[in-house]
Amino acid sequence: MTVPFFTLLYPWTKAFHVISLIAWLAGMLYLPRLYVYHCETAPGSAESERFKVMERRLLRQIINPAMIATWLFGIVLVLTPGIIDWSWGWWHVKLLCVLLLSGFHGALSRWRRDFLHDRNRRPQRFYRAMNEVPTVLMVIIVIMVIVRPF
Ligand code: HEM
Repeated sequence: MTVPFFTLLYPWTKAFHVISLIAWLAGMLYLPRLYVYHCETAPGSAESERFKVMERRLLRQIINPAMIATWLFGIVLVLTPGIIDWSWGWWHVKLLCVLLLSGFHGALSRWRRDFLHDRNRRPQRFYRAMNEVPTVLMVIIVIMVIVRPF
């Protein structure tokens, strides 16, 4: 009997899924913090320009590729025979949170463009509050996949 290819890869796929989601989350936890500090700088100042470089590099070099890798490895896990049962409630909650996380990623990108063009009008407390969003979603996702409460 031959073992399906994705089944053979399963432990590796899961390892790389976890590695990439750590990088994705690390970036998304840090970027709103940079926006909090960026709010304190005057548009056009040397400090503000430095934040723009840091924000661009963090988003382009870490957060974007890590999100793509998390999705790709996650999709391969979904396609692995016997791994996901669509009747599990926790799986649907995880999927919803992952979609919200991806939407938050899109919002971070838009806010970066506002800072880039010196047109951010949101107050510092907005970014302080937004800083909590990826944390809350990450806590829910990890509890869903590890505890599987329902
Ligand atoms: C981007 C879309 C994602 C998809 C399609 C996806 C899908 C999956 C699948 C199918 C598994 C295998 C479950 C099993 O082995 O029984 C898995 C494992 C896991 N996922 Fe995701 N996932 C995604 C994103 C995330 C994110 C954003 C997080 C964390 C914030 C996460 C955390 C985990 C963890 C910790 C495991 C390992 C659970 C275990 O030990 O069995 N996933 N994922």
